[in-house]
Amino acid sequence: MPSNSLPFFRGWSRDPVAVGLPFPSSPWTARRLAQATLDAAIDGGGPILELGAGAGAVTQALIEAGCAADQLVVVERDAELCRTLERRFQGLTVLHGDALAITELLASAAIPSVSVVLSGLPMRAVAPAAAIRCYSGAFRAMPHGGAIIQYTYGFKSPVDPGRSPPHLDATFVGREWRNVPPMAIWSYRLPAPRQPVPLVNGHHTRTSRY
Ligand SMILES: C[S@@+](CC[C@H](N)C(=O)[O-])C[C@H]1O[C@@H](n2cnc3c(N)ncnc32)[C@H](O)[C@@H]1O
Repeated sequence: MPSNSLPFFRGWSRDPVAVGLPFPSSPWTARRLAQATLDAAIDGGGPILELGAGAGAVTQALIEAGCAADQLVVVERDAELCRTLERRFQGLTVLHGDALAITELLASAAIPSVSVVLSGLPMRAVAPAAAIRCYSGAFRAMPHGGAIIQYTYGFKSPVDPGRSPPHLDATFVGREWRNVPPMAIWSYRLPAPRQPVPLVNGHHTRTSRY
């Protein structure tokens, strides 16, 4: 049994809705999430930010994939799980609090910028206005081009990219079947700014509906 399973199960028994399931992410899921997160991280953007770290299944995979613990900031709402994270990972910054209030949390920890955001928050159970506020705060904390990597047990995107201002580009990264239940991974970015349409002989070279 992985070392994070028992603390995670206890966390789930304290708050089944927020934690979602009695099992942490499988090692296969954790490795895939870590790779997707490192691939999306912006060089020099700041630490990696993990929201909803639980007992550290994905945190561990990030460290094993090459992210130094002191370049990793995790947010977790459950105080007991925070203590588990602090015990497991020396040098890790653990923020105990509500990740939906990400702007306030980062400000209180004096973290001006992060390179990528990885979220295990149960977004399907979060009110749309709170999810939008959280995602908007996450994008403000990243340099232009920043990504939110979100995982979910659901079959659809856990946030509606069409209804989430600012409008999001959503990419389905893949589904990891070696997880109970299977886990879907999504990547969200802000759309690239519109390029001005070049003028040829005083006319636009193409028409754009956008
Ligand atoms: C699905 S579990 C993922 C845990 C771990 N990352 C993993 O993959 O095994 C979601 C975690 O998010 C935490 N969580 C839920 N809502 C939260 C919130 N608003 N702020 C901070 N943490 C939250 C829960 O306590 C739980 O540990």
